[in-house]
Amino acid sequence: MMRGWETASPPGPPMPLPLESAPLHLLVADEDPSIRRACCEIARIEGMVAHEADLCARSRELLLARGADLVLVDEKIATGAGCVVLEELRQMRPELAVVWMTSASTVQLAVEALRFGASDYLVKPFTAEELAVVLRRLARRRTLDHASRGLRERLRAGQGNLLGQSPEMEKLFRILGRVAQSTHPVLILGESGTGKELVARAIHANGAGAGKPFVPVDCGSLAPTLIESELFGHVKGAFTGAHKPSDGLLVAAGNGTVFLDEVAELPLELQAKLLRALQEKEVRPLGGTHVVPIGARVLAATHQELASMVEQGKFRRDLYYRLNVVKLTLPPLRERKEDIPLLAAHFLERNSREMERNFRLSAETLTFLVEYAWPGNVRELSNAIDGACNLCSGETIEMGDMTTSIRDSWMHARMKSQTAPESNGWAPAVETLAEMEKRAILTTLEQVHGDKLLTARLLDIGKTTLYRKLKEYGVRS
Ligand SMILES: Nc1ncnc2c1ncn2[C@@H]1O[C@H](COP(=O)(O)OP(=O)(O)OP(=O)(O)O)[C@@H](O)[C@H]1O
Ligand SMILES: [Mg+2]
Repeated sequence: MMRGWETASPPGPPMPLPLESAPLHLLVADEDPSIRRACCEIARIEGMVAHEADLCARSRELLLARGADLVLVDEKIATGAGCVVLEELRQMRPELAVVWMTSASTVQLAVEALRFGASDYLVKPFTAEELAVVLRRLARRRTLDHASRGLRERLRAGQGNLLGQSPEMEKLFRILGRVAQSTHPVLILGESGTGKELVARAIHANGAGAGKPFVPVDCGSLAPTLIESELFGHVKGAFTGAHKPSDGLLVAAGNGTVFLDEVAELPLELQAKLLRALQEKEVRPLGGTHVVPIGARVLAATHQELASMVEQGKFRRDLYYRLNVVKLTLPPLRERKEDIPLLAAHFLERNSREMERNFRLSAETLTFLVEYAWPGNVRELSNAIDGACNLCSGETIEMGDMTTSIRDSWMHARMKSQTAPESNGWAPAVETLAEMEKRAILTTLEQVHGDKLLTARLLDIGKTTLYRKLKEYGVRS
């Protein structure tokens, strides 16, 4: 571990986490052999391994033998002879995705299908492109499921889960997976509330030091003399009140991790001492003449522009280089809006669990949450939802349940949009209720990458209603 530290050099390009790269297996069950063949052909063009069947005992064996990931099934088979087989298969493979093929006149049946547990449906007759779109969506969902399951297992975050599905967060997860395995220092940058500490804990929990101490040191809130003795330790009598010798945190962390939070606040003279400690891998306690070896990994974070502080002579360049072997920059929440519904759902669920209620967001609230700029990032979102759940008299969170500052910002944006409707402000000045509803549904659907079940859950409307509305808007799966 120590050798890795000494010879620290920037790591190579991030290695993607091992995602499920094997092709997906699709089973097509339809009475019409020409439909079966056509569907299989399209699936193969999409890179899948396709089998056809009539969802009888043979299909069951096929699925068992080959482990199908997707089943494309005609409603007649699914509700008739194949029903039992389908149910049996689902019990054996709970992650099996089922797509119903239904006729245009029976949208109600499609809704039934969703209730029954199908992941999606296709209205016959459908085009090759429509089928390809559904297959791609399911393949993507499957990859994301595997990725997030794998990541969740790998990123056993010390406290809470590091959530995100935006491309920015996916990239961060890939880098994290690799960074955690090394022992280099890591510099974590990002605005306040973007999750720097959570990332530090995830690195620790997934590295060699997992299970050993994770020691956060807030360099911004301690007096300089205190930080010095906190970090490096002191001998008995080193200063007034030092009745006993103390190991500093760098020593006490053993082979764990020391997290230097708000490292930009470290006074210059202590920066020099820290650099020496990192280089020599030993510390000299305050007032002492001896040195003590250290073995902890060092992670540092700041919301400040550390590079410009270096240019201004406010932060030592040599220490900056030493800490910046790997740099992780967390994007502000407003630049990864795709994560907002996911995070909001997570914070709602947490409150629902704690308060034994079943909180949901009104369409208007969710639309606002996605649009709002969140200067305090994820922490502000989390606090906003906690506050709203506490204020909310029922279970649906309306804008009126939001804290004053957020409500003010919402009112302000609405007024602005009324004076300049064509600006890219909050909303058009005159919008009917139906238009607002449509905007909420379509925005949410887009934010969750077309996941209709999640959309219905977030907006607290029934799946049936959602499908009916989408049909009204002319949106097909
Ligand atoms: N990706 C995320 N998924 C889930 N929760 C998150 C995520 N990012 C941040 N949080 C939550 O938001 C809050 C703030 O996160 P954290 O303390 O890690 O931010 P920070 O960047 O260290 O902020 P500061 O600079 O103000 O110290 C915490 O409650 C954390 O659990
Ligand atoms: Mg922090």
